[in-house]
Amino acid sequence: MKVAMIGTGYVGLVSGACFADFGHTVTCIDKDAGKIDRLKSGGIPIYEPGLDVLVAQNVKAGRLFFTTEAKDAVREADAVFIAVGTPSRRGDGHADLSYVYAAAEEVAGLVDGFTLVVTKSTVPVGTGDEIEAIFQRVRPDADVAVVSNPEFLREGAAIEDFKRPDRVVVGTDDERAREVMRELYRPLYLNETPILFTNRRTSELIKYAGNAFLAMKITFINEMADLCEAVGADVQQVARGIGLDGRIGAKFLNAGPGYGGSCFPKDTLALVRTARDAGAPVELIETTVKVNDERKRAMARKVVRALDGELKGKTVGVLGLTFKPNTDDMRDAPSLAIIPALQDKGAQVQAFDPEGMAEARHMLQGVTFKDDPYAVAEGADVLVIITEWDQFRALDLDRIKLIMRKPVLVDLRNIYKPEDMRVRGFVYSSVGRL
Ligand code: UDX
Repeated sequence: MKVAMIGTGYVGLVSGACFADFGHTVTCIDKDAGKIDRLKSGGIPIYEPGLDVLVAQNVKAGRLFFTTEAKDAVREADAVFIAVGTPSRRGDGHADLSYVYAAAEEVAGLVDGFTLVVTKSTVPVGTGDEIEAIFQRVRPDADVAVVSNPEFLREGAAIEDFKRPDRVVVGTDDERAREVMRELYRPLYLNETPILFTNRRTSELIKYAGNAFLAMKITFINEMADLCEAVGADVQQVARGIGLDGRIGAKFLNAGPGYGGSCFPKDTLALVRTARDAGAPVELIETTVKVNDERKRAMARKVVRALDGELKGKTVGVLGLTFKPNTDDMRDAPSLAIIPALQDKGAQVQAFDPEGMAEARHMLQGVTFKDDPYAVAEGADVLVIITEWDQFRALDLDRIKLIMRKPVLVDLRNIYKPEDMRVRGFVYSSVGRL
């Protein structure tokens, strides 16, 4: 099959490389000439484990191409995927679809022969209908099927998630389009991955419902963590105790500083807006959004408590800035709310992150960035772990204790054991454990 992938952001690049790896011929298209040049010369604009090798292999095999020119690739394509950004619109929380519609307009002018136009970006319910209307207007003669095929990949595990997904969701009523989608995902089909065919609106909603449910699950365990602290229970054991019930499931029950990233915050907000507009408000998700926002400030208060209520003139060392490990993505990272809250209370902040500092420098003011965890601990009154990078799990704690001004550790990801830390002489606090 021939695929044109519009947008070489996270979803586009990973999906494009993986489809090429499935044996299809894929052309990734982006307006950003700098990005395309970089990709052509073997550079990868994002950090995702394994992606550089996958791209290089498929370029070498003659299955993966990069261009700024949509024309030829779209004309020849069996399927054109739209994988451009859908950021939150400033002010109202709705998804900003201008990039999606601009891509659809462009594609409409170029398609030739029966072509699938597939949304891979997370788009609100009804976007497929809008794209269809654009085609009606620009190219009423075009033989296209507009299909929804949401992506469920997690950053840091994106290739694995694409190649071994729990399921593939395809929204279309067009039987010819279903056939093309089956062919595109044939290697998964052979692996017996369930492919769920639905109508387009249902597929669009599945993506939002899935992310909202996961955001709610995390928020649930975060509230349980606060309750555990108040009543003297242990949230990790609560999570295990409930997670073993197959109806609940063990995943996404790690308490922490609140969810962040490029999907959950944006998608929950967009779902709230869509539901309100449709006259069917989703109050559970509205509450989830509110509780998660408030949580970040609460995490700053936790640090204040660890220092007996006074942050003025104190040095706070922060380990981890990205919204989760194995990514350089800083979008909606809890650190972006926690650090300014600490600074507001008079703290000096010094920080380290293995991949996120280049981005963080533009997003955080007044922070001193250090080269490694020990430089962060040096002279700090408290060390706060915000992201659970593996390298923070194996710190030389005796060394840390010696170089800190006071051995106070606030572990917002529960990566150390409270008893161990106390034996080592740390004043240690974590989330939902005493
Ligand atoms: C998410 C979805 O998992 C994915 O299916 C969708 O396509 C995009 O959004 P991603 O944002 O990459 O993926 O990261 P994910 O691993 O889901 O984590 C999101 C946030 O939730 C992170 O801030 C993470 O730290 C937090 N989280 C996750 C928890 O606090 N506790 C958990 O148990 C799990």
